[in-house]
Amino acid sequence: APSDPDLVARARAAKEKLGDRVFVLGHHYQRDEVIAFADVTGDSFKLAREAAARPEAEYIVFCGVHFMAESADILTHAAQQVVLPDLAAGCSMADMAAAEQVAECWDVLTDAGVAETTVPVSYMNSSADIKAFTGAHGGTICTSSNAKRALEWALEKGDKVLFLPDQHLGRNTAVRDLGMSLDDCVVYNPHKPGGGLTPEQLRAATMILWRGHCSVHGRFSLDSVGEVRARIPGVNVLVHPECKHEVVAAADQVGSTEHIIRTLEDAPPGSKWAIGTELNLVRRLANRFAAESEGGKEIVFLDRTVCFCSTMNRIDLPHLVWALESLADGTVVNRIEVDAETQKHAQLALERMLALP
Ligand code: 13P
Ligand code: SF4
Repeated sequence: APSDPDLVARARAAKEKLGDRVFVLGHHYQRDEVIAFADVTGDSFKLAREAAARPEAEYIVFCGVHFMAESADILTHAAQQVVLPDLAAGCSMADMAAAEQVAECWDVLTDAGVAETTVPVSYMNSSADIKAFTGAHGGTICTSSNAKRALEWALEKGDKVLFLPDQHLGRNTAVRDLGMSLDDCVVYNPHKPGGGLTPEQLRAATMILWRGHCSVHGRFSLDSVGEVRARIPGVNVLVHPECKHEVVAAADQVGSTEHIIRTLEDAPPGSKWAIGTELNLVRRLANRFAAESEGGKEIVFLDRTVCFCSTMNRIDLPHLVWALESLADGTVVNRIEVDAETQKHAQLALERMLALP
């Protein structure tokens, strides 16, 4: 549906009034009506870097989810204020790893005698507490665009990785990019005593994968891939690495949202693509690349039964207008602020990521 013209005008006016004092970041999974007001769009990695590179902006309005706004607060200087237009925009994957559970897991690894040589690597999609744990235990953060380099870095430092919280990104990167076998990976289930693993299993594994997943990408299946290949002969299947291993293994290509966009930009005119990632992004790409001037590429959603990321969609134009108008009137709403102790260790982990070769 087209955006309410009154809200569009209000968002424009509030942004104009704020000028350079505000910087709006938009993740690729945001709605079109929100993306229209983003000063920059990107994947998690690009947005973290962009937030850190805007010291002049008093306010960073983060159109994305809670863990992204926390990361922006960690990477920006103390006087800058990060605003998340709807506090209900969380991430079910990030919620799958709680600080107490991770501390308990570390005790399990310690009891098995493997903690000393294990390096934690945490996906950006995790709370600031988990990032702080990671920093304090010598580990790094990664995103879907640098997970390979993060694992290589960690395996130079230690002989095992505790990968949090997305088991699929961890497994896909280990197997696809580092040539490990599925047997090198075990899954730690935080809801079972000892993670559901024996000390022998922990000692034998290279990758200890946290039992977390993305509720959106986890729904693409091997059937989705088979069905689209049958329906569209010659289609290229391109999926996000948060998809299950069997889906990634059956796809032609895999990559972060930024990688998906670049791949489509470079694709030959008239080529056909089925994309396994969030629907807002896929729809935008389908509209963009259908144009003759963009090569008339045919882009379809990998599985028509999968839908939007519901928490990304919490940020809509009314929430954005409310946040911008409040800031323009001098009231900071929905500020995301990470406490100093957590920030210190989490920043270390994020800076290790930003420094990866
Ligand atoms: P990227 O933007 O890093 O590919 O991450 C995808 C995602 O699920 C963000 O929540
Ligand atoms: Fe979290 Fe998945 Fe939504 Fe990304 S797409 S915010 S990982 S639930």
